[in-house]
Amino acid sequence: MKDKFENYILAIESSCDETSVAVLKNGQELLTNVIATQIASHKRFGGVVPEIASRHHTEQITYCIDAALDEAGIPLEELSAVAVTEGPGLVGALLVGMTAAKAFAWAHELPLIGVNHMAGHLMAANLPDSGGPIEYPALSLLVSGGHTELVYVAKEGEYKKIGETRDDAVGEAYDKVGRVMGLTYPSGKAIDQMAHEGKDVYNFPRAMIKEPGYEFSFSGLKSAFINLVHNAEQKSEVLKKRDLATSFQAAVLDILLAKTKSALAEFPEIKTLVVAGGVAANKGLRERLAEEITDIKVIIPPLRLCGDNAGMISSAAYAEYKAKSFVKLDENAYPSMAFDTIK
Ligand code: KG4
Ligand code: ZN
Repeated sequence: MKDKFENYILAIESSCDETSVAVLKNGQELLTNVIATQIASHKRFGGVVPEIASRHHTEQITYCIDAALDEAGIPLEELSAVAVTEGPGLVGALLVGMTAAKAFAWAHELPLIGVNHMAGHLMAANLPDSGGPIEYPALSLLVSGGHTELVYVAKEGEYKKIGETRDDAVGEAYDKVGRVMGLTYPSGKAIDQMAHEGKDVYNFPRAMIKEPGYEFSFSGLKSAFINLVHNAEQKSEVLKKRDLATSFQAAVLDILLAKTKSALAEFPEIKTLVVAGGVAANKGLRERLAEEITDIKVIIPPLRLCGDNAGMISSAAYAEYKAKSFVKLDENAYPSMAFDTIK
């Protein structure tokens, strides 16, 4: 018989290039977090090809659901709800996860929870594996391939974006300069490694660093980097990749740290800083945060919860589950879903 004190949420993530299914017990214990990555298929194109992503999700989704249920060891009748990423992301990719989640919810008569992907990245920090729970009010620096934003979280589920990038996301900038350096996609991790071996000799621009407010801009930095490399090529000069990586990463980190610190100064009531998203895997960023932000709790999820995964979606879904905030079976995907549209 179903133990009413236990709840299990099955969560599905398919917004970009990972098909993932997780099962979360009582909002705390991640029983499984199956991730099928498509990186090998997109690598040769230097980025994610939306049509290919959708096709892979379609192939993988039922296997991932089966594998997650199997690994969690939970019979279907024990599940309490199904959660799914409804945006932001690639529309075709999102629709695969949403269609699977809706069909699963309908077939097993379970409530359906719609989750904002970025709320998922943020709520990965609430899991015990990350060092959670988050103490509120919190500030979140969300840095991924598609997003760079600072979010004020007054309490669980109440998000207010206070600033974001005007142009490229920070992960996107890493991937674009990586391409110019001849690295394969995604190149954030490789640049991070090289950045630890070189010197900051190029003094790249730190855009908007002194301007008030919390807007970011990385396109000028990216262009400065690309121009430097192209000019050197024309003169047959050889630049040291390690110094390029160190100089690029130093500029990125200076900007991220400066904006985060000025938000913390403006909102002294903040109790936790959450740094999440794929770029939160960056070692240099982790080191600088540890050195420079010492007076409040800083949560950076472990590497396996930084990249896209359904575990983070299940954690955000748990807040909705407690609030009985469910969506209907005719719910749509929202490719440009904003933070401020969720309550
Ligand atoms: O959150 P994520 O897995 O997918 C999106 O929702 O975008 O983030 C992927 C991004 C890629 O741009 C990748 O290059 C970057 O995260 N990334 C890193 C590192 N590891 C992954 N960027 C900098 N340093 C890293 N160590
Ligand atoms: Zn993401």
